[in-house]
Amino acid sequence: MNSHPHHYSLEPRSAIQSLGASRIREVANAGMGRKDVLPFWFGEPDEVTPETIRLAAKNSIDLGETFYAHNLGLPVLRETIAHYASQLHGATDVNHIAVSSSGVSALMLIAQLLFNPNDRIVAVTPLWPNLIEIPKILGAEVISVPLELNTSSAHPTWELNLDRLLQALTPNTKALFLNSPNNPTGWMISRAEQEILLAHCRKHGIWLIADDVYERLVYSTSTSALSCAPSFLDISERDERVISVNSFSKSWLMTGWRLGWMQIPTELMQGLGKLIEYNTSCAPVFIQRAGVVAIEQGEDIIKRTQTRYTAARNFLCARLSQPFFRDAGLIAPVPQGAMYVFFKIQGLSDSLALCKSLVTEAGLGLAPGSAFGPEGEGAIRWCFANTLENLELGCQRLENFLISKNTK
Ligand SMILES: Cc1ncc(COP(=O)(O)O)c(C=O)c1O
Repeated sequence: MNSHPHHYSLEPRSAIQSLGASRIREVANAGMGRKDVLPFWFGEPDEVTPETIRLAAKNSIDLGETFYAHNLGLPVLRETIAHYASQLHGATDVNHIAVSSSGVSALMLIAQLLFNPNDRIVAVTPLWPNLIEIPKILGAEVISVPLELNTSSAHPTWELNLDRLLQALTPNTKALFLNSPNNPTGWMISRAEQEILLAHCRKHGIWLIADDVYERLVYSTSTSALSCAPSFLDISERDERVISVNSFSKSWLMTGWRLGWMQIPTELMQGLGKLIEYNTSCAPVFIQRAGVVAIEQGEDIIKRTQTRYTAARNFLCARLSQPFFRDAGLIAPVPQGAMYVFFKIQGLSDSLALCKSLVTEAGLGLAPGSAFGPEGEGAIRWCFANTLENLELGCQRLENFLISKNTK
């Protein structure tokens, strides 16, 4: 060993070195500083957070609520969430609810709570990359089970191969990560599939970790007052190996606020409190006050967003299915939830290169399918949380780009 301290390696742990860098960022960097790029790459609404929510945070700051608070969240926010979750998914209480500084932080905390090095985690992919990378930070191994694109009918759909997933969920699997509605595909698990998966996970003691952040962004024709995707919380007991992660980011247009929550077995709560203490100690009080108002007054916001995104989804899917795009090899399944169209382009083998060219040559910002795991290669993700005018402009740019490539 060298005795000079400046000769020691300055590199982070190998698990960190081998983490993937965001390919969406890589595309966005290619368009850095350009004002003319239409940005559909990130999973973000085009609107600022509604005023009532913003006012709640301002009032809290003006009242001087600038101090540390409870590890697990303000009691009033935990109660508000428990009441909301009970309405959606059956009775629960504050002993099962913990607040976190974002959905992604909730997922990291759960990984820290449960995963040991070399644990086997199964994930349904393509998937938002954070869910695949987080277990690796803890030294766990992630096994992917890909969704399949079914093109046998006039309406192509992303589908789960349930048998394949059940086979991957072996007795030595620690946890299943399941995100439905799914980012990037918009696929949504059915109740029947949930029942089979829950029974299987119960049999083998596998933790079922559901990422439910898009549960309110669903596009069924349901007329129920609180439209919501099917959740494992609807069919599970409160104190078994089922965890649901949620966020204020998507339902209430609060991506930049960094506020989320978890519904977990009570037995985990004490350990979680300690972990929050050593990670962030607590979520900021004024952000939590905004969270209370978001839930209490937010149903109108959610309804308006659902209406707006339904129109955007229908428009974009119809447009990308027009003869020009079909002839160019595009297959655009209609998503059942979330806010993305994940379309295939036949013959495409380098979605990252294509997305970079689209930015630099056409001013169109889309996310490469390969950002969501190797199973996503050959596809592109388009976030449709935007105006119909912008979506149309984006389609025109894509069309012109494809024409120019064909004539070269
Ligand atoms: C599937 C999924 N889970 C969780 C999140 C995290 O949301 P946040 O960290 O903003 O609460 C996102 C954000 O894009 C997501 O797509």
